[in-house]
Amino acid sequence: MVTVPSVSSGWRDSAVSLCHRIHNLYERLSAQDDLAPSPAIDALYGDLVHACVHSVDVDCAAVLADPRIREARKGLVRLCADGEFLLERHWARAALLSDDAWEMLSSFPYLDNYQQLTRLEAHALAGAGYRAGPASRVCFVGGGPLPLSAVLLHQRLAVGVSVVDRDVDAVEMSGRLLERLVPDGRVSVVAAEATSVPGISRAVDGCDVVVLAALVGMTRSEKRQALDAVGAVAEPGTYLVVRSAEDLRSLLYPAVDIRDVREAGFLPEMLVHPLGEIVNSVLVARRR
Ligand SMILES: C[S@@+](CC[C@H](N)C(=O)[O-])C[C@H]1O[C@@H](n2cnc3c(N)ncnc32)[C@H](O)[C@@H]1O
Repeated sequence: MVTVPSVSSGWRDSAVSLCHRIHNLYERLSAQDDLAPSPAIDALYGDLVHACVHSVDVDCAAVLADPRIREARKGLVRLCADGEFLLERHWARAALLSDDAWEMLSSFPYLDNYQQLTRLEAHALAGAGYRAGPASRVCFVGGGPLPLSAVLLHQRLAVGVSVVDRDVDAVEMSGRLLERLVPDGRVSVVAAEATSVPGISRAVDGCDVVVLAALVGMTRSEKRQALDAVGAVAEPGTYLVVRSAEDLRSLLYPAVDIRDVREAGFLPEMLVHPLGEIVNSVLVARRR
């Protein structure tokens, strides 16, 4: 008698092969001495992102529950954070060395992702009732060496942006780049630690929106500390945008626990999980 495999057994099969694929990429990336951009490294990261973003009709819960994936999860997110930092630094250097920084950045391979994500954030903010006024200002926490998200939000919302990063080299590089990308000075950068109330308070002062980049707070406890610090200094009514990750995308970026957002004094308004090319989920909340 011919038996037709049930949908669930088909799902299990593809979950097993996807676990194998993701774990294999994890091992190959972990074995590299240097994660700086190169054709080989870019291909490994590209495959990993593709596996986590484009695997449809897969039982995500089964993949995330797989013991090998559970064990690799923290390391995967760390590898992605390190790779993203090195990629951004590489492109920031290239833009600084070129005669036309914008022209150089038009070849940045993830430019379209940054544009789509900031567009989603601007629309999610509008959906939550945010309207930028003449006194509006955004604080972008975790801008990195290539503060593209901050610049794109400045352009989309037509507001000034204060960028914060704890890495002094990243701050120095992004400061020089901002002089080229936004010569009128409406996007500035300072060094500060997001989890420290004194550190973050000056940057958040006068801002009606605070954006927490996905890689600020790699563990739940670090993310909670950053949320608590922002909650301690933000005025009532301030909008908070937190970049998070859902399902398999949480193997690339830390996922935010909505309870931690509430406990930091914010009222969550919406949580948007993209299903297309955008990797990060977007949570919008307001300071109570
Ligand atoms: C890879 S980058 C930039 C993110 C990306 N440019 C974006 O637009 O989302 C993440 C940055 O977050 C910064 N960062 C991480 N934790 C932080 C913290 N607790 N306080 C301040 N900056 C932090 C790191 O130094 C790093 O430069």
